[in-house]
Amino acid sequence: MKLLVIGSGGREHALAWRLAQSARIQKVYVAPGNGGTASTELLENVNLTAIDDLIAFAKKEGVAYTIVGPEAPLAAGIVDAFRTAGLKIFGPTQRAAQLESSKDYAKAFMTRHHIRTAAYRSFTDPAQAKAYISEQGAPIVVKADGLAAGKGVVVATSVQEAHQAIDKMLEDGAAGARVVIEEHVSGEEASFMVMADGHEVLVLATSQDHKRLGDHDEGPNTGGMGAYSPAHIITPALHNRIMREIITPTLQGMAKDGIPYTGFLYAGLMIGDGPDASRSITVLEYNCRMGDPETQPIMMRVKSDLTEVFEHAVNGTLDQASITWDRRIALGVVMAAENYPGTPRTGDTITGLPQNTEECVVFHAGTRLDGKTIKTAGGRVVCVTALGDSVKRAQVAAYDVVRQIEFDGRQYRNDIGWRAMSHAEKPV
Ligand code: AMP
Ligand code: GLY
Repeated sequence: MKLLVIGSGGREHALAWRLAQSARIQKVYVAPGNGGTASTELLENVNLTAIDDLIAFAKKEGVAYTIVGPEAPLAAGIVDAFRTAGLKIFGPTQRAAQLESSKDYAKAFMTRHHIRTAAYRSFTDPAQAKAYISEQGAPIVVKADGLAAGKGVVVATSVQEAHQAIDKMLEDGAAGARVVIEEHVSGEEASFMVMADGHEVLVLATSQDHKRLGDHDEGPNTGGMGAYSPAHIITPALHNRIMREIITPTLQGMAKDGIPYTGFLYAGLMIGDGPDASRSITVLEYNCRMGDPETQPIMMRVKSDLTEVFEHAVNGTLDQASITWDRRIALGVVMAAENYPGTPRTGDTITGLPQNTEECVVFHAGTRLDGKTIKTAGGRVVCVTALGDSVKRAQVAAYDVVRQIEFDGRQYRNDIGWRAMSHAEKPV
């Protein structure tokens, strides 16, 4: 079978890589792909991004189904267009993707369906936004309403910083014609992802991301600088509560609103302190796709034939699907280009990339194949992902490889996994 994966990041490399391990796979096309998908067996890059071109390609090649990685094509209606053309595709429709593409929509949805989220107000007028911030005080969170690749959020520790964020988002940003101002919620974050087919739901392994650029969670927010799976904080008791309090009401709420949800659904959660039965579980954001870099460690742990899982998902029979997970911990460290999360420097040659092994895979993101060399081509460059019997072992294995990979201006965190290690760790 031939499949098509849309996107060019580490998430898409990881998805395509795992799909390609199925004996059923003849080819996994990745559009447009990156330097890693260009040099992985059974994967082939397709240099197309326009939805019409992708539809024509999928028809010509007899692609069995398409999987959409990033949010932008979903928000642009790729799922609607493929379905209208009679093609199978996994992802939410344009209307359903508003859960991610409009923070304002998502907040109103959660309020309407009694799903716990931070208190908020939304504004288009900078003066009113600033007055509200002054009245609320800091810490306070300012979010651009539209898609901003994980960079449209400012967790402000002072009123002045929040006012500056308003200036930036309401006066010069296209994504920021509207802002959402949110109450600051404290606790520990976790990423909870499921697959939905409009009726049934299949829960994926849990994970935890590291959003800040620097060690000790300092510096600006990024798309994510590293992740591991599973997230120790999500005990079986919390897992049940998250399904009951967040995931089920979300999917039922969408169905009730007449927008049945298909695709990945990612709830970015803040888990408050306390015993599991009473800890607060607050939705910080929905994403209508898998997380990046969370996908990389999650894919390392998939033991089932992923092509079958997606087949059930696009056919509406997810109740018949299951995934067996490797019991080990997978941990991924992102190596980013100079100046990320600002405009990254690109075009540097990457050296020291090792052969992948069963226990450590380098997933590419902002790279391109240039003749025989791999060059940097984006902000997050690679995500080195390793398996281990403990977080510590996975961390050591990943960093051993990270230290071999060189390109000018590279930056990475040295402490991916620190939170997991601060929970009393039992080897699996
Ligand atoms: P988002 O894109 O909405 O997940 O926001 C990016 C990051 O900002 C989150 O992963 C959190 O670390 C932080 N954040 C977002 N909303 C809040 C909030 N209401 N309180 C505290 N931190 C937040
Ligand atoms: N790593 C967070 C995200 O993909 O939104």
